[in-house]
Amino acid sequence: MATWGESVALVPTMGALHAGHMALMDLARQHGRRVIASIFVNPAQFAAHEDLSKYPRPFSADVAKLEAAGVDGLFAPEPATMYPPGFCSGVQVAGPANVGLEDRFRPTHFYGVTTVVAKLFHQVQPTAAVFGEKDFQQLAVLRQMVDDLDFPVKIVNAPTYREADGLALSSRNVFLTPDQRAIAPVLHQTLQDCAKAVRAGETQGLARGRSRIEEAGFLLDYLELRDSRTLGEPGQDATREAGGLRLLVAAKLGTTRLIDNVAV
Ligand code: PAF
Repeated sequence: MATWGESVALVPTMGALHAGHMALMDLARQHGRRVIASIFVNPAQFAAHEDLSKYPRPFSADVAKLEAAGVDGLFAPEPATMYPPGFCSGVQVAGPANVGLEDRFRPTHFYGVTTVVAKLFHQVQPTAAVFGEKDFQQLAVLRQMVDDLDFPVKIVNAPTYREADGLALSSRNVFLTPDQRAIAPVLHQTLQDCAKAVRAGETQGLARGRSRIEEAGFLLDYLELRDSRTLGEPGQDATREAGGLRLLVAAKLGTTRLIDNVAV
């Protein structure tokens, strides 16, 4: 356990750092005198059929990027340090933040995320922690955990970092073939068009968006409109909640699963 005596902002990551991660490090600088990054590809948040073994791990390149960015420290534990033999505890967040989106397709995912983030918070003892809005449900679940369990950590959210064509940066984008990469921006374009339709009160906007994503060649997991604070289902008159709604999508292109979201 660390004792710092000064404010520390933690940026938890699974490595394969890209410009989006580096923007999180920059933002972290505004929330702590010291910035610590963690790199840990957390087995507990991958289901047995998911891509744990092929998740990219360019560790030396990651370290070089962190050094170049002036990050003060890196915490990169081994799996056996995080989950030694006999490990059998965990953190489970319930409630609307954890209902009906990612959890329908990855039922054990957030249990793994909250468990590892709780451990990282205890190990690094940050005063703030920065997470990207691309994983919007993850942010909501982590806020719930911090509020419910009284972690003395300020959760800071950072806007999604995008390619010029709108594709959200993700460590998994490297798995896209050139053809899939050309299709991938449809997700963000559809989100933007759907958001416009919702604002205009068009009832068919979501259905149209779902069809467009499928017609582009994705296997759609969900495209849903949610209350951006609780992630619960919005009330009947969605247009009245403008500013307080979020559109979230997850879809697969081949074996690569992409997620994204926009404010409405
Ligand atoms: O967002 C991620 O990269 C991971 O879910 C996190 C927060 C580092 C926990 O493993």
